[in-house]
Amino acid sequence: MCAVQSFGPRHAPGWVALSNALLNRQVTAGALLDEDARRDPTQLSRRWVVLDRGDGGGVVGTAHLYFFPFDPPGCLHASVLVHPAHRGRGVGRALWRTLEAEARQHNGARLAATVADNDAASLAWARRRGFAPQFHRFTSKLDLHTFDAAAFQADVERAAAQGVDFADLHGADGPTLDRYVNFVADRLTETPDLAGHPRWPLEQVREILRLDHAPRPEWLVLAVGPDGQWLGTTAMVAVASGTVAYNELTAVAPGARGRGLALLLKLQAIRRAREAGFPVMRTNNHSANTPMLAVNRRLGFAPLPGQYTLVRPAPDSGRARVCPQTFRATPSGRQS
Ligand SMILES: CC(C)(COP(=O)(O)OP(=O)(O)OC[C@H]1O[C@@H](n2cnc3c(N)ncnc32)[C@H](O)[C@@H]1OP(=O)(O)O)[C@@H](O)C(=O)NCCC(=O)NCCS
Repeated sequence: MCAVQSFGPRHAPGWVALSNALLNRQVTAGALLDEDARRDPTQLSRRWVVLDRGDGGGVVGTAHLYFFPFDPPGCLHASVLVHPAHRGRGVGRALWRTLEAEARQHNGARLAATVADNDAASLAWARRRGFAPQFHRFTSKLDLHTFDAAAFQADVERAAAQGVDFADLHGADGPTLDRYVNFVADRLTETPDLAGHPRWPLEQVREILRLDHAPRPEWLVLAVGPDGQWLGTTAMVAVASGTVAYNELTAVAPGARGRGLALLLKLQAIRRAREAGFPVMRTNNHSANTPMLAVNRRLGFAPLPGQYTLVRPAPDSGRARVCPQTFRATPSGRQS
């Protein structure tokens, strides 16, 4: 019999030890608590844990029900993690029951979950609970030590010939930063990840850009046309306790696409990441994002195993809809 208990700050070290190991992250206990403190209080976030030997041992299972802005609209995100040595004993079941009961308090919300694409047992576990895959995302990484910027000299010259310039937001005044946040909000719903989603509130855009807690405006780069028009952007933040440069977004406005600007924007991010001493850059991609995947391949990003996002419809709304065009990644996480 597993005792599920509500999460408290004392569980944070055990929580991150488990989630870092399973999700290949490097979050500190302090960063987890800071993230919770920054959360919009109107958006749900509830955590639970199961401890080894009742209350005396380490965290062997976690559950988290929360609002995740990249999920399909109207979903709450459900995450259940169990230490591999404690699986198959009902820990996951007990955590799921608790999480599902809480979800029922929120109009029996539609739930979204992510499962590693190389974890058939967890995928089957989620399917038994009514989840169906909707799309696939994967991380890629670029070795910044071996990256050869000189190989892209012709691309850089092509940008100059178009009269396109690159500027970052270092020293930008408040109105310019606000304009930038709005520009990013417009670009986000043009990505395959967020197509059809409502425009994000500006506070949410500021949060993913770290503007209010770890601002690095020099890592927010714009492509600017000859007439001063903003054509596209790339945004980089530091993750993994500052050891990895994460390319949060690279986006080109619809009217400026097809001119090679995404590659040039990424080169700007790469240059800044190398100047800041990062050994590696990471990014996340929707598997159906063909143009961005092509750019990443050309730059030398190496794909890593990815994750399926699955959705469980609200209990009375029928079966989950699978999108055949977007659900076509191979189990290795690479494109088919
Ligand atoms: C998916 C995951 C949470 C399951 O955790 P778990 O503790 O092994 O879950 P359970 O033990 O409750 O269930 C696993 C299966 O073991 C079996 N089982 C459960 N209790 C058992 C018991 N007492 N004796 C024998 N078998 C048992 C059942 O077949 C059960 O599946 P079912 O409940 O669907 O019938 C775990 O594999 C994991 O952490 N995966 C990575 C994260 C992830 O992908 N999470 C899912 C998305 S939220």
